[in-house]
This record gives sequence, structure tokens and C-alpha cells, in this order.
Amino acid sequence: MTNKITAITISAIATIAFTACGTNKHEEVKTYKMSAAEVFQASCIKCHGANGEGNPEKKTPKISDKTIGELEQDIYDVKNGGSNQSSGTTHTVMEHNMQKLIEKGYDYDTKVMATYMYETFHK
Ligand code: HEC
Repeated sequence: MTNKITAITISAIATIAFTACGTNKHEEVKTYKMSAAEVFQASCIKCHGANGEGNPEKKTPKISDKTIGELEQDIYDVKNGGSNQSSGTTHTVMEHNMQKLIEKGYDYDTKVMATYMYETFHK
């Protein structure tokens, strides 16, 4: 005969494992709906001209004589509202335009756009 002794052991060891959502985030790479070329052709070209020659009617300055570095700086300022800080110039009109363009999906990488514009203007 065996007396069954049922020992109920409640093991109240709650192991809370904080498993951090293991998305090993490297640098966040932003993806854009359109390429810089597509954005330029669909939007910028209207005011800036196919060769960056500008448009007096739209008060758009000539930008074809800028270097890639200058273009990148100006585009960066225009996108980030940093006029007067880094380039020392004011682009209030263009900053406003840029916000509207980004809202419409005309977003792009500043470096890629600067390179594209430079190459397009110097074909
Ligand atoms: C509706 C017309 C219009 C469109 C569209 C437009 N721009 Fe402009 N842009 C201007 C005007 C006007 C200026 C000059 C006034 C100012 O800088 O605020 C300017 C200035 C700039 C400047 C500064 C130029 C300088 O001399 O320093 C850059 C860079 C620029 N635009 C880039 C772009 C890019 C990139 C796009 C397309 C994504 C674009 N623009 C689309 C009208 C436009």
C-alpha cells in the first residue's frame, strides 16, 4: 500500500524576460518614393529650369554655377530650415516651397539630389 502524498508545489517563480525587440538597428536608412531624378523632373525643373538657369518670372535664381558641395549645402538648408545658419543666405521662399513639396511626396536625399542637379546642369 502506498499513501500517495500529493504535494502540490506551487512554484511561483515568475521569470519576466525582457526580450528587447531585437531589431538590431543600424543606421536608419530612409527610403524615398521617388528618385532624385524623378523629383527634379516632376517639380524642381518647373522653377529652376532644366539646366538650373533659373526663371526671372518666378524669381528663381540661377543655380547652375554652384559646385556639388554648394548645392548640397543649399538643398540641406532649404529642406531643414537652416537658412542663415550654415550658408548665410535666406531661402524663406524655397523653404516654404520645400515643405509643400515634401508633403506632396517630393522628398529626396540631399546628397543624391545635389549630385543629380550638378550632373544635369553640366551635361
Ligand atoms: C514654385 C517654384 C519652385 C520650385 C517648384 C522649386 N524651387 Fe527652389 N527656389 C525657388 C525660388 C523662388 C528660390 C529663390 C528664393 C529662395 O531661396 O527662397 C529657390 C531657391 C532654391 C535653392 C537655393 C538657391 C540658392 O541660390 O542658394 C535651392 C538649392 C533650391 N531652390 C532647390 C530646389 C529643389 C531641389 C527643388 C525641387 C525639389 C526646388 N528647388 C523646387 C523656387 C522653386
